[in-house]
Amino acid sequence: MADASTRPIGEFSFLDPKVQDDPFEFYQALHAQAPVYQMPETGMFIVSRYDDLREMLMDTATFSNRMETKTLQGENWQIYEDIIAEKGWPEAGTLNFSDPPAHIRYRRIADKIFNARRIEAIAPKITEIVNEVIDRFIDRGECDVVQDLAFPLVGTVISEQLGLDPSQMETYKRWGDAIMLPAARILTPEEIRENAETILEMQHYVAGQLEARRQDPHNDLISAVVLEGAADVEPLDMHEMQSLMRQFLSGTYESLVSAISHGVWLLMRFPDQMAKLRADPSRVKDFVEELLRFESPVPGLARIATRDTEIAGVAIPKGALVMPRYAAANHDAAKFECPHVMDIDRKDKRHIAFGAGPHLCVGRVLARRELITAFGAVLARMDNIELARPLPDPVHVPHMMLRPMRELYIRFDKIG
Ligand code: HEM
Repeated sequence: MADASTRPIGEFSFLDPKVQDDPFEFYQALHAQAPVYQMPETGMFIVSRYDDLREMLMDTATFSNRMETKTLQGENWQIYEDIIAEKGWPEAGTLNFSDPPAHIRYRRIADKIFNARRIEAIAPKITEIVNEVIDRFIDRGECDVVQDLAFPLVGTVISEQLGLDPSQMETYKRWGDAIMLPAARILTPEEIRENAETILEMQHYVAGQLEARRQDPHNDLISAVVLEGAADVEPLDMHEMQSLMRQFLSGTYESLVSAISHGVWLLMRFPDQMAKLRADPSRVKDFVEELLRFESPVPGLARIATRDTEIAGVAIPKGALVMPRYAAANHDAAKFECPHVMDIDRKDKRHIAFGAGPHLCVGRVLARRELITAFGAVLARMDNIELARPLPDPVHVPHMMLRPMRELYIRFDKIG
């Protein structure tokens, strides 16, 4: 990788799909020249250094999660709000859309829903799903990792947890895409209307499932939301449950699909690491941690400044949007030695891919379980993995916050 510290930061635009596709040179330039950088195109500040980011994530009074989607969509967002207010459940502002002290209550409930015991209980099911998904293409000796492995795997696990028929995964994908779309780019009024209709469809489905589980609880996520929500000192209402469910759906989907696709790509790019894993499959846990650091499957999110403040000497006015760029912090050379090298033996594993502080990812136990199971199975069942066709250009879907791969065609020898 070129030493970007000599290339002026002004030569990069973070709206440029090329920079979004391969942002690592931009991150180096940020670290060296403008660790807290105000994007000239949007006015948003990007926080890129590990220590600054941690400090910012701890200070929820100054850097608030109480943002509105309106911020990106402008006045047109009223179209969405009117449709949802009339026929659905307007966003209740829970969990990742709340700050302490309100956040504490939601977090208490969410931590119970995702407690390690519950995740361990579904671990055998996850193993079964991973192997079933791989069974579908293993004899072909090739697949598209994104469409044939990552998406069906994540989609089936979440479908099971939501009580959705796994054969309706496309529906679930449509909902997941609809949740993320307003954060990706500026939409037309027609797109906003369509987006609201898709969200309504999801809300009514979820409401039906929540009601059904109230009558007849199962051992799944949606029942846990009903049970833990009702058991709290301040029971959750339907608006709040809808808001949580929406975050569990969006939290799972893009992040894990991206982690699985990038993980397979990294194995091919760093064959020495793949060899270590084949020699000792118990190292798959270390691989998953290094994958999370290297790729940061949720590369960036947003906060809003509640007062005039500063980070690392850079003034940030009240009302400014600030992006915690987890992916840049995980490549900060001041924190991680040779950050652009994938190294499962790395001593310091304290990456920030799941965030830090009160909003630390609530799904991290589930995410680690799915990733360890997935990569364990990939290594046990496929040998000589290599690219089956050149990567598309660009490799990723253009996006300010996320970095989903468009496709990843591989071929391999079936083991056994
Ligand atoms: C590799 C997979 C994942 C990554 C990299 C990831 C990353 C993150 C990050 C960086 C945050 C912090 C947000 C912030 O600073 O505001 C977060 C929060 C969150 N994540 Fe994940 N996530 C993953 C998987 C999941 C899964 C499987 C779920 C399932 C429910 C989930 C649900 C959430 C929720 C609900 C929050 C908000 C927590 C709060 O505000 O208290 N995530 N995640």
